[in-house]
Amino acid sequence: MKKAGITADKEYIIGEVDKRMYGSFIEHMGRAVYEGIYEPGHPKADKDGFRTDVQELIKELQVPFIRYPGGNFLSGYNWEDGVGPVKDRPRRLDLAWQTTETNEVGTNEFLTWAKKVNAEVNMAVNLGTRGIDAARNLVEYCNHPEGSYWSDLRKSHGYEKPYGIKTWCLGNEMDGPWQIGHKTAHEYGRLAAETAKVMKWTDPTIELVACGSSNSGMPSFIEWEAEVLEHTYEHVDYISLHTYYGNHENDLENYLAKSMDLDHFIKSVTAVCDYMKAKKRSKKTIHLSLDEWNVWYHSNEADKKVEPWITARPILEDIYNFEDALLIGSLLITMLQHADRLKIACLAQLVNVIAPIMTEKGGEAWRQPIFYPYMHASVYGRGTSMKLLVTSPKYDSADFTDVPYVDAAAVYHEEDEALTIFAVNKSKELMETEIKLRGFEDYRIIEHIVLEHQDMKATNQKNRKEVTPHSNGTSSANAEGITAHFTPLSWNVIRLSGK
Ligand code: AHR
Repeated sequence: MKKAGITADKEYIIGEVDKRMYGSFIEHMGRAVYEGIYEPGHPKADKDGFRTDVQELIKELQVPFIRYPGGNFLSGYNWEDGVGPVKDRPRRLDLAWQTTETNEVGTNEFLTWAKKVNAEVNMAVNLGTRGIDAARNLVEYCNHPEGSYWSDLRKSHGYEKPYGIKTWCLGNEMDGPWQIGHKTAHEYGRLAAETAKVMKWTDPTIELVACGSSNSGMPSFIEWEAEVLEHTYEHVDYISLHTYYGNHENDLENYLAKSMDLDHFIKSVTAVCDYMKAKKRSKKTIHLSLDEWNVWYHSNEADKKVEPWITARPILEDIYNFEDALLIGSLLITMLQHADRLKIACLAQLVNVIAPIMTEKGGEAWRQPIFYPYMHASVYGRGTSMKLLVTSPKYDSADFTDVPYVDAAAVYHEEDEALTIFAVNKSKELMETEIKLRGFEDYRIIEHIVLEHQDMKATNQKNRKEVTPHSNGTSSANAEGITAHFTPLSWNVIRLSGK
């Protein structure tokens, strides 16, 4: 058995957790939209053709915010193709994912669906093949009440009220050579600044996300951010980060240590934002949007064999296992530790495409193992992220040194008098953890949820719920707080209440 310690003090806080931290992402790709959220003719489809069983699972996750419509798809998308009578919409080749896009689902259908699942939409504008004009027209179409060409067109399409979309992305991964309309930092920075300017002139209430690097391994990483912010600083509110992890070497210790990479990534982007703030003598602070994050590697080989140009190509259908769920838990903890600067995060993606929810055409919908840590954080992680003191034994792995076996974060919801501690035990041994709670003396344990499994590769296929959490975690109150037993390789959620 190993020993660790966690101290929480009511006075020591990191910052408010923005609900958009628990966002997700639906792109027009693979079976995310067609056969995912939308499947007219499915026994559980509603009158608009959207699957209610999928909606129920999304509601379980309490996803507050969903990025749309891409992704790489965005950079070749004409939003005008997806509005107006469905019968008149063009079928287009999507060059990003070698798919035929039918445009059956477009802006209004997606926004209607998002309302059904109680999520706000994070709309993205195409800065690959399009630019300022298409972007400002889309803002006018979505957000202007009436009395102008684009707002009246929306009304004529049957959508009377403006949507009031608050958060908008200025393109997608524009630093990547794979992107349609890939740009240099200078080209993108100028275009993003001018687009941002007129989007905000169209609706001054919106917030904008500029594209950061596609991942921290890009050769232009950090210089890209600096140059983009050089042009856009006063026009945007967030800069994006994207990151995907995989256990390519089948090295569990190293895999679980990858949350340290995310920590480093967030710190680096925060540093460049603050450097630009100082350089520009600005009073404004740029925040971070991790608008794509997940594990993505299981499906890489299979995807090479999928037939091109069909609609709903079954690509990026990663089947997640238990060890992926542990890493997702650690990544969520890392995000909470940066709640002061990281305001938006979108688990990429939500249904079928590298997703917590899978569906079968005409059949079932089910929860992958990664569903659970994401759900626990989203449901119990609203409030103030606490600055914890964590003492843990450490290990070295292939790529990381001094990796703590225990990762932990805590969120306090003052009004509900709820304190939740999230912890991952990366050790193969039981971890006895003394949790000291200062200022929470009268709080009692409501529940200790645990996600654990003997087989790190266990999955949840259709009709097989191998990896599911239980509430039999062992935590007991003592004079100073709690003694918690984190079982080997486990995700833990300790819920406390002051009521
Ligand atoms: O989420 C899948 C893809 O990953 C997105 O389309 C792209 O932005 C990223 O490279």
